Amino acid sequence: MMQPALILVVDDDPTNFEVIEALLSGQDYRLHYINSGDGAIAILEHLEPDLILLDVMMPGLDGFEVCRRIKAMPMGATIPIIMVTALSEKRDLARGFSAGANDFISKPISSIELLARARSMLLLREQYKQLQGFNTRLEATVQMRTAQLRALSIKLLEAQETERRFLAHELHDEVGHALTAIKLNLHRLERIMSTQASEPLADCLALVDGTLQQVRNISLDLRPSMLDDLGLVPTLRWYINRHAKRTGLRETLTCDALAQRLPTATETACFRIVQEALTNIARHAQAQMVSVTLRQANHTLHLTIQDDGVGFDQTNLSQARAKGTSLGILGMEERGTLIGGQLSIASTPGQGTRIALRVPLAAPV
Ligand SMILES: Nc1ncnc2c1ncn2[C@@H]1O[C@H](COP(=O)(O)OP(=O)(O)OP(=O)(O)O)[C@@H](O)[C@H]1O
Ligand SMILES: [Mg+2]
Repeated sequence: MMQPALILVVDDDPTNFEVIEALLSGQDYRLHYINSGDGAIAILEHLEPDLILLDVMMPGLDGFEVCRRIKAMPMGATIPIIMVTALSEKRDLARGFSAGANDFISKPISSIELLARARSMLLLREQYKQLQGFNTRLEATVQMRTAQLRALSIKLLEAQETERRFLAHELHDEVGHALTAIKLNLHRLERIMSTQASEPLADCLALVDGTLQQVRNISLDLRPSMLDDLGLVPTLRWYINRHAKRTGLRETLTCDALAQRLPTATETACFRIVQEALTNIARHAQAQMVSVTLRQANHTLHLTIQDDGVGFDQTNLSQARAKGTSLGILGMEERGTLIGGQLSIASTPGQGTRIALRVPLAAPV
């Protein structure tokens, strides 16, 4: 059952309260009286009134000051205040409105005016409460959906890594071994066949060699097996060397010796973030130098990728994302969040880009 609206009357003169009480008798309102501005401020949080009728001329804090202070309180800001005053000068009304008052009633109070103004202010309050309820439900729904999407993201990334690991393994082991066997047989054939066959055989051998190399590269690009076998640091070292050779960039890796292997999800996320960052540098940065650092301090892992390239304006990112064209940085941020970390990007046009990931690590047991 909804309770009737609560009206707080603030007036130093109790007879004024009695007048208001008489004028509102027969209405479905609860009234609470307090004889000072200080008192009203003190009980506001506890009382939670729906409307305040506030006298202007009071000893101590006057109505304007009380109004200002109430409106500055988080809860008070949303409670309508009607100032009750014998002052009728425009400048007094202006003072009241600038203090945050919602309306005025002049003394002596007319019953019709009081009822009409109280009703319209209470309607406003009711609508605000409805909106607030709607907002709370909306926030809860958004939170729930975000949690669901996050869980889905984790599952998708895990499934993607499992699939890549499987494909990389199949390509490297099954296809790679079959190609190696073909190569050995071709060499045997080379020895026993006539010289007439040597040209097509050499051609086949060259094709097999090329295909073997391609299969190895595809397998490594899908997921280097050393990430599972040896861990993050050796894999980063190998990957950065390979990237530097391919791109001609000067790339350095500075690493702390990690006391133990990191969780698999953290190793994968760090590797994929470096991979995307280096791809971006090669595609967009026009850089000369790249430095990657991996440090561990105070149970936190710090990964940074810094380039000296052209940098970029991050305000343009959201437009590109909306079009679905630039998803690399979004993916890096998402990977960072999913392992409980935080990714930050500092980039200014003309001054290079720095990508930093911080991941809290569990304290050793
Ligand atoms: N290191 C960098 N130096 C300069 N510009 C960069 C750098 N990294 C990113 N950018 C800019 O930020 C944009 C967004 O990068 P993001 O990786 O999100 O998308 P993308 O590389 O354009 O596309 P993809 O979705 O294929 O990764 C890039 O288009 C580029 O303009
Ligand atoms: Mg990219």
